[in-house]
Amino acid sequence: MHVLSIREMDPETIDSLISSSLEMKKACRSGGSVPNLSGRVVGMLFLENSTRTRVSFEQAARKLDLGICVFGVQGTSMAKGESLKDTVLTLRYEGIDGLVMRHNCSGAPYLAARFFGGPVINAGDGMHEHPTQALADAVTIAEHKPSIKGLTVAIVGDVLHSRVARSNLWLLSKLGAEVRLVGPRTLLPRHPGHLPVSIHYDLASGIEGADVVMALRMQKERMDGGLVSSMSEYALMYQVNARSLRFAKPDCLVMHPGPINRGLELDDWTADGPNSVINEQVENGVYVRMAVFAAAFESNNGKPKKSQKKAVKA
Ligand code: NCD
Repeated sequence: MHVLSIREMDPETIDSLISSSLEMKKACRSGGSVPNLSGRVVGMLFLENSTRTRVSFEQAARKLDLGICVFGVQGTSMAKGESLKDTVLTLRYEGIDGLVMRHNCSGAPYLAARFFGGPVINAGDGMHEHPTQALADAVTIAEHKPSIKGLTVAIVGDVLHSRVARSNLWLLSKLGAEVRLVGPRTLLPRHPGHLPVSIHYDLASGIEGADVVMALRMQKERMDGGLVSSMSEYALMYQVNARSLRFAKPDCLVMHPGPINRGLELDDWTADGPNSVINEQVENGVYVRMAVFAAAFESNNGKPKKSQKKAVKA
């Protein structure tokens, strides 16, 4: 099974990955058993910077006894100009069983999936999608709320450049949440008609009555300039802080996929305060990636199944 996008994933698969992530968490915390994927090796092709996503995929692989081979552009033939297709074919014929891939071009993991032969997992492609981050966010919400169905989720900030927002809006709306996109006109989709969302240019009305407020990083590296007058004006109008959070429900969850620009999207009080579940999002990222590896290798794209259970130390 490839994991390329949430938009193309059916709600049953989303539900089963959420349940499986929660089982992985329980097993890891209590010394229960998790699938054993030893004998396989997954390639981690990270062609863009990453801390939490890369490390959580590595941690997930270790917990399942899955071998890993991590590389970026530096130190590989991609730095000599080798194409993505030839890189993927090389890995395939060297016997790499699965591929986790982060790329700055939207759609690159689809090209990899065409030539690789084994499961490909999208770890963030350009401005397109980041499916495992949305799953980690859903697991975190599911642990705090009775159901995702019926929740109001406000996604605030630089939606334009955010693959996290795109995966989240599909996932949350497929599971029955109301999704609002909140931010300045220049950072929201220009033609939102095809998206299952409502659009809000005003922070107070956008987060009014929200059960979840998800702030997004201002992706300065993807902005050519001119999208906002200044970062300080953005903070004045769109920062999620004690003052703006008064409009959301008192028990609303504050989320952020990281990395945070503290003092810009969130103030310190909100990032570290009682409503914040940001560190839980990070922790759940490991269990989601365990569940995704297990699902990817269970269905296995035709290769013989090697998985068996193993006990983990608590
Ligand atoms: C995000 C990403 O890289 O898409 N971070 C993450 O993976 N958790 C969000 C961002 O970079 O702003």
